[in-house]
Amino acid sequence: MTSVAVPTPVGAPFFAYRDGVLHVEDVALPELAARHGSPLYVYSRAALRAAWQRYAEAIEGRDLLVCYGMKANSNLAILREFARLGAGFDIVSGGELARVIAAGGESGKVVFSGVGKQAWEMRAALAAGVLCFNVESQAELRRLSDVATAEGRVAPVSLRVNPDVDPKTHPYISTGLKENKFGIAIADAPEAYRLARDLPGLRIVGVDCHIGSQITEMSPYLDALDKLIGLLDTLRADGIRIHHLDIGGGLGIRYQDETPLAPKALVDAVAARLQARGYADIGLVMEPGRSLVGNAGLLLTQVEYLKPSDAKHFAIVDAAMNDLLRPTLYDAYHGVLPVVPRAGQTHLYDVVGPVCESGDWLAKDRELTLAQGDLLAIESAGAYGMVMASQYNTRARAAEVLVDGHHVHVVRERETVAALFAGEAMLPD
Ligand code: LLP
Repeated sequence: MTSVAVPTPVGAPFFAYRDGVLHVEDVALPELAARHGSPLYVYSRAALRAAWQRYAEAIEGRDLLVCYGMKANSNLAILREFARLGAGFDIVSGGELARVIAAGGESGKVVFSGVGKQAWEMRAALAAGVLCFNVESQAELRRLSDVATAEGRVAPVSLRVNPDVDPKTHPYISTGLKENKFGIAIADAPEAYRLARDLPGLRIVGVDCHIGSQITEMSPYLDALDKLIGLLDTLRADGIRIHHLDIGGGLGIRYQDETPLAPKALVDAVAARLQARGYADIGLVMEPGRSLVGNAGLLLTQVEYLKPSDAKHFAIVDAAMNDLLRPTLYDAYHGVLPVVPRAGQTHLYDVVGPVCESGDWLAKDRELTLAQGDLLAIESAGAYGMVMASQYNTRARAAEVLVDGHHVHVVRERETVAALFAGEAMLPD
């Protein structure tokens, strides 16, 4: 038998080849496909814990609250796991708050971000007793003041400041430049803080900032920090006390050959700079999403057809842009691994889905040896995968399973086609 070279998964050691078959922890992916069908999101509990552990090292000995940016993956099983490990949550909607509560998360460790909070969402968050509202405009401050006053409550607020730094990432996921819709321009922040101080029903607790996502360099964080420290100085001079500084999320992961930032290295650098500037006592908050889940999950899919043509070889698989939107939306790279690598002729393949859009692709120009029916693993799909899935083309959304050693837990059932139009109605005849 000729031995076939196997690639190294980016999610190693939790995703690894054993005897030529890709496994998630102790479970072989072909077994999962046989039992649960495809496309299938597969997560590793040990990988989730290992990702958390990197933040736990940063927390050690510091006043640092890590609020999982749950928009990256809001499955209840994952929320519960992080809640048990001690995480707080960064939410952006009333829906996400409901998930935190359903998963047994602590509301007192929730920060509520987002530019468009509605009154009902503010009421729900006040009733739940969130740690703070990350407020993004003066108009939002006024609405929050009205809602809190009407409810007879006091809303803890932190203003999300836009420091106008370039996070050196994809334009669609950069948020801290002045042309982005997010946050309050740093020059306008002192005035907004004075408004927050003077409005009834508000209590200032923090300063917040999030500059973008998939950041792999330390310098944008430190550039932002320098600007935030300037703001802290101004607020101090105004007699406004700040309990915590929230430096946002954004730490990148390896999709291809990136070198991710270590949370501890970042936190140590931030804390050292704060100390040097006379803010040793300020608490820290972070809002990491992707770096806690991205490489703890993959999307398992099966080759339906191979379609050679003069220009290209296509592998048409059963997963599509409705399952994993990132390639279509951001031109994002995700590794593609053959679940059981085979010997034979390799070709450069575009891995595409069945959806009726030319933009429906998962990977381009990948050197693969394939046959119809082969299983493929789309890597790094734990973050912004299932949460961004849609039902376009009336495709039911995939199931999600979480592997723990040799145990497999179905953490979300496959959607049924009937459920897709269950809420629709026809006009009377
Ligand atoms: N905090 C705030 C205020 C955010 O807007 C985000 C992400 C996070 C925290 C978490 O950022 P992370 O640590 O995951 O980078 N769908 C895109 C990413 C959008 C990020 C949106 N905001 C993608 O698939 O790359």
